[in-house]
Amino acid sequence: MSMVNPRDLLLKQLAELLWIERTLFFEVLPAVHDAAHAPALQTLVTEHRTETRTHCVRVEEAMRAAGAEPASAASPPLATLKEQHDSEAGQITHPVLRDVFQCAGAVRTEHYELACYAAAIGLAQTLGLDKAVRLLAQNRGEDAAALEGIEQVAATLRGEL
Ligand SMILES: [Fe+2]
Ligand SMILES: [Fe+2]
Repeated sequence: MSMVNPRDLLLKQLAELLWIERTLFFEVLPAVHDAAHAPALQTLVTEHRTETRTHCVRVEEAMRAAGAEPASAASPPLATLKEQHDSEAGQITHPVLRDVFQCAGAVRTEHYELACYAAAIGLAQTLGLDKAVRLLAQNRGEDAAALEGIEQVAATLRGEL
């Protein structure tokens, strides 16, 4: 897909975000939940998975608000993070250390999501796409709150090491 204007770039960013949110919902968050040992981490992951389902819907709506049919496109950075995470996960047997490792992966992912949302919200603002801005800002707010929650759980778990 060639990009000749801000809308093209926004749609490309939203396609990546849609892939990220779907991959988190269908693959990553269920795997993290199953791997988690601490009930607090499991609860957090369950809650954020529900939010992530809504994030997919909001990104789809934002694409429609920009006049396009929702379509996703693979995110090489997230795919690489996931690959590295999966290959290292099996090397940790200590349950608390495993949870700290899972939290670190979640923190990286949320930071990447936040960076992607910041870029897309900026472009949507430039284009005057108020509905898209509102939808994307809701996602960004929930991802920021999730990041805070994970960091709190991680701090508690580190104290148990
Ligand atoms: Fe999200
Ligand atoms: Fe998230």
